[in-house]
Amino acid sequence: MKPGIFIDRRIPAEVEAYLAEHCVIDKWEHTDPIPRETLLSRIGEAEGLLTSGTKINNELLEHAPGLKVVSSISVGYNHFDIPAMKQRGVIGTNTPDVLNDTVADLVFALILGSARRVAELDHYVKEGLWKPENGEKWFGTDVHHATLGIIGMGRIGETIARRAKYGFDMDVIYHNRSRKPEAEEQLGVRYESMDKLLSESDFIVLMAPLTPQTEGLIGRSEFNLMKKTAIFINASRGQTVDEQALIEALKEGVISGAGLDVYQKEPVDVSNPLLQMPNVLTLPHIGSATAKTRFEMAMLAARNLVAALQGGTPPQLLNEFK
Ligand code: 8YV
Repeated sequence: MKPGIFIDRRIPAEVEAYLAEHCVIDKWEHTDPIPRETLLSRIGEAEGLLTSGTKINNELLEHAPGLKVVSSISVGYNHFDIPAMKQRGVIGTNTPDVLNDTVADLVFALILGSARRVAELDHYVKEGLWKPENGEKWFGTDVHHATLGIIGMGRIGETIARRAKYGFDMDVIYHNRSRKPEAEEQLGVRYESMDKLLSESDFIVLMAPLTPQTEGLIGRSEFNLMKKTAIFINASRGQTVDEQALIEALKEGVISGAGLDVYQKEPVDVSNPLLQMPNVLTLPHIGSATAKTRFEMAMLAARNLVAALQGGTPPQLLNEFK
């Protein structure tokens, strides 16, 4: 008998067809996110849940007594309440690696776009504000040969470092929970203390996963250590930054600018002061958002789900459940 699963977001048809070979599917049919109450009322006796950001906590688990596995179409899994899942014998999986290059590309879009003021100057051209005498007013800052500080040297961080070294001849320093000797040897990146990284970097990229230890990791004291010319990039989770401190640091010229793909609250409110600042480049959490990568993520998540429901070990079973 095929196990029942619930899919709480739209996925590529080919992935759904693969799942249908192995499971009985119930799914959320719409493009807008499924309302929490709807999910709680529909998950029923499903043994598997395919999601990407739904909060997996006691509330949901109590509404899903048959649940065995939650497969997230994401590399981050801060939406998992791991102790609550373990208490009920529910395992979790994610989709690392398949999105490394796509996210690293996007981080460099934020670095280059912020450094050379792309969005701001695109606006001026289209608004007919381009005047020959504007020359110096539109100066940006060089990325090549600059110092890049990466906070959180995971697989995406290493992919960013590779682009920085071989694409832009940047000097790359990193701070991480643990040293990465292979990356240091292969990529010539240097491990430094957080304070040294913050004070020496021209561009600071925050790629730390959101955990109780990294929530609010970068606050006013960290911004105060940065160069006044520094540009801060966040493509991890908005909650890893004290957003009010970032707003104040930008307003007071403590740092020069920012490139953001994530925010404390998403979608970010249009009233958020960050959206009123020309020296802040803002994107709508699109780090992994290409058709090819999202397909690969969804297919990997589906394989995780099927493997778990067939009694095997999912390819990307989270370490916390091993
Ligand atoms: C997902 C994300 O990529 O992968 C992550 O951790 O940040 C998300 O952007 C996206 O939700 C696709 O599932």
